Amino acid sequence: MLRAEGFEVWGTARDLSRLETGVEDRRFHAVRLDLADPAGAETAFAEAQRAAGGAFDVCIQNAGAGEFVGFADADPAAWERHVGMLLLTTARLSRLALHGFQTRRPARGTLVHVSSLAVEFPLPLMSSYNVGKAGLSALSESLMFECQETGVTVIDFRPGDYRTAFNQTMHVSATLDHDWQRRLWQVLEHNLENSPEPERAARDLRAALQRGRSGVVRSGAFFQARLAPLLARLVPQGLRRASLAWYFGAR
Ligand SMILES: NC(=O)c1ccc[n+]([C@@H]2O[C@H](COP(=O)([O-])OP(=O)(O)OC[C@H]3O[C@@H](n4cnc5c(N)ncnc54)[C@H](OP(=O)(O)O)[C@@H]3O)[C@@H](O)[C@H]2O)c1
Repeated sequence: MLRAEGFEVWGTARDLSRLETGVEDRRFHAVRLDLADPAGAETAFAEAQRAAGGAFDVCIQNAGAGEFVGFADADPAAWERHVGMLLLTTARLSRLALHGFQTRRPARGTLVHVSSLAVEFPLPLMSSYNVGKAGLSALSESLMFECQETGVTVIDFRPGDYRTAFNQTMHVSATLDHDWQRRLWQVLEHNLENSPEPERAARDLRAALQRGRSGVVRSGAFFQARLAPLLARLVPQGLRRASLAWYFGAR
């Protein structure tokens, strides 16, 4: 989508073969970047930014993955690594992107954090994901405030379910030994299989970039991305929590 819009793109993956399109395109640069390696990710980002002339026009922080495990059963170090990858390493790269935007006279650029509707409707048995994304959205809000009237815009992009490889790459705990945990996983699988194609998210992001304003952008099926956030603002917390438990068919 970005290339179709005329952007020159520095796109990342942990395995560069994932980015080989077989098509020679001088406006696409493949960058190996792994958020599990904070120092390496910073180096890769800084090199790409230098190659782009010192600053990107738009930086989209899209990388993310899930972990499906009860909080008490989770290995504490793995739990912290996951939050670190989703939030802390991403924050390091956002800082580098902001430094790039600020070197321009006048400063300009757009930072996008791909967060999740899980910030508003936490996903059961995915506490590290919920915490990482909630932190990322809080960072977006902080930066929206700090970047007011600077020419830098910050978009907190919150997808609902989209039919991607997300659940296939998710680390699912081997300790799913209760029926309700297995049922829950089936609900998550069913939701993703019956969700919109990710091209819709790309279109929503393009529209947000074209508006050129900082803010929260929700994207997804009508119920998840429009109706549920509206209803959630109108009902008490307890009812909201009970509705979420019903939605996920908990216990
Ligand atoms: N699909 C949904 O329903 C949904 C809903 C809400 C939010 N989101 C968010 O949308 C974003 C994209 O997810 P997706 O649905 O497109 O899932 P996906 O198909 O699994 O893609 C995940 C992306 O994150 C990258 N990634 C994962 N772990 C990484 C790491 N340690 N270091 C660097 N890159 C890493 C992957 O790169 P590789 O090529 O290296 O694997 C891939 O590009 C994520 O932030 C996700 O949390 C998705």
